[in-house]
Amino acid sequence: MIDAIIVAAGSGKRMKAKENKQFLKIEDKPIIIWTLEKFYNNKNIDNITVAIRKEDEKKMLSLFDEYNMKNIQLVYGGKERQDSIENCLDTIIHTDYVLIHDGARPFVSDEIINNCVNNCPKSSCCTGVLAKDTIKIVDKDKNITSTPDRKSIWYAQTPQAFHIDIIREAYKYARETNFIGTDDASLVENLGYKVQMIEGSYNNIKITTREDLAIAKYIAQSIK
Ligand code: CTP
Ligand code: MG
Repeated sequence: MIDAIIVAAGSGKRMKAKENKQFLKIEDKPIIIWTLEKFYNNKNIDNITVAIRKEDEKKMLSLFDEYNMKNIQLVYGGKERQDSIENCLDTIIHTDYVLIHDGARPFVSDEIINNCVNNCPKSSCCTGVLAKDTIKIVDKDKNITSTPDRKSIWYAQTPQAFHIDIIREAYKYARETNFIGTDDASLVENLGYKVQMIEGSYNNIKITTREDLAIAKYIAQSIK
């Protein structure tokens, strides 16, 4: 069994919108629906759990109704993204693997989901793309201390996929050691487990600020 956890329990502060950015529309369809449809229609995904804020529950349920999405499990999120995922991991039963994905990444593709599904029995995986820019490491005075080889720099995206026992162990260890990671793979790396980078897509952006909405509109048109 393969589950998907979609986290949508943030407040979208940087978007500066009146409501959670998950409800903003790209070509008349809310962002969260774009995202959910990808997993809902993928035959390899058996169950979907979505982390939401309590105040968004009514609206979320009415969207599921409108878009005819059934059997999606709702879980209340927590203060940070990591807390929201932990709440989902606590409620999931009977699964072998889990794909964790940001509700705010509506352009995940079937190909990316399938790559995660096919690779996660071999190793934990992190979706990503090769950096296009040169990355500089700087000290606190902004003096450059090194320029890593660009061929080894990847931007991490989601989905990230894990065996359920490994990701649960990683979350337990993170809580015990007060480790806050910026993604799920880092919690697993922290335990010393191998995590494989797998090819994502430059279209698989996370919608964070206003400018991203314009880019999203462009991507939505270009993938038609
Ligand atoms: N998320 C979550 N629970 C939180 C915080 C974030 O489920 N406590 C989710 C968001 O809903 C989003 C994903 O994690 O789909 C990535 O987070 P981010 O892009 O930072 O979204 P927000 O936290 O909503 O935005 P901001 O940081 O601007 O407030
Ligand atoms: Mg956030």
